Amino acid sequence: MRVVLIGAPGAGKGVYAQYFRDKYCIPHISTGDIFRDEISRGTELGLRVKQYVERGLLVPDEIVIDVVKKRLQQPDTQRGFILDGFPRTIVQARALDEFTNIDITIHLLVSEEVAVRRLSGRRVCPVCGRVYNIYYEPKPRVNEKCDYDGTQLIQRQDDYPEVVRQRYRVFYETFTPVLDYYTSTRRLVEVNADKTLSEILPLLEKILVDIGVLKLNPCRDVKID
Ligand code: AP5
Repeated sequence: MRVVLIGAPGAGKGVYAQYFRDKYCIPHISTGDIFRDEISRGTELGLRVKQYVERGLLVPDEIVIDVVKKRLQQPDTQRGFILDGFPRTIVQARALDEFTNIDITIHLLVSEEVAVRRLSGRRVCPVCGRVYNIYYEPKPRVNEKCDYDGTQLIQRQDDYPEVVRQRYRVFYETFTPVLDYYTSTRRLVEVNADKTLSEILPLLEKILVDIGVLKLNPCRDVKID
């Protein structure tokens, strides 16, 4: 199963990928998570991308492509993966086809107002990366602590409303050619991501089962709240 989740900030890419990772043990590869981890560890890559990520701008294609290419060479991706947030430009989409075969790209359509509301309520565990929301499910069970490891949750630097609006705009500046590319190669499905999690997750499962890349045999029991 080689699936790409694309969509504007706040579409829910991370939450849906996290659900498939937990339930079906499929690696979740998020370029945003990789960059934030590198930034927090102060690595050379982190220093190179910090200025872009914190201002809501796209990281240059050559850097992102190199990161994803290396990640897809890791052995855990042999059984499949879910890519979250990559590709975002036509250059990235073409590069991806040079180093792997994608089964399907799912475009999660979210409106700007829903995205701003969701992202202002988003809280993230700095240890395991799990995503919660103080307004929507999944809410943390104990106030602002991770359900899995009890760590204090944090708010991302780029989740303040003015940065979210900037990210939303930047996303659509480069995105139309990506959509056209996947439409013309018949690998695009669109899903209305303004809906609730309990509506979207079964729909995503059905799409993946119908195209024959997912069998409903979970490695863990995961509830949809
Ligand atoms: P990245 O981390 O990828 O950020 P993004 O695309 O802006 O996406 P988000 O993580 O904000 O949104 P999401 O769709 O994953 O939302 P989530 O599932 O958390 O990238 C960050 C930065 O890195 C970029 O700005 C750029 O600088 C750089 N970068 C990354 N990839 C790059 C690339 N390919 N090229 C160049 N630069 C790149 O959901 C949001 C919240 O809403 C959560 O709290 C969730 O609980 C809630 N929620 C989600 N769905 C629902 C629902 N259906 N109902 C209710 N609540 C929901």
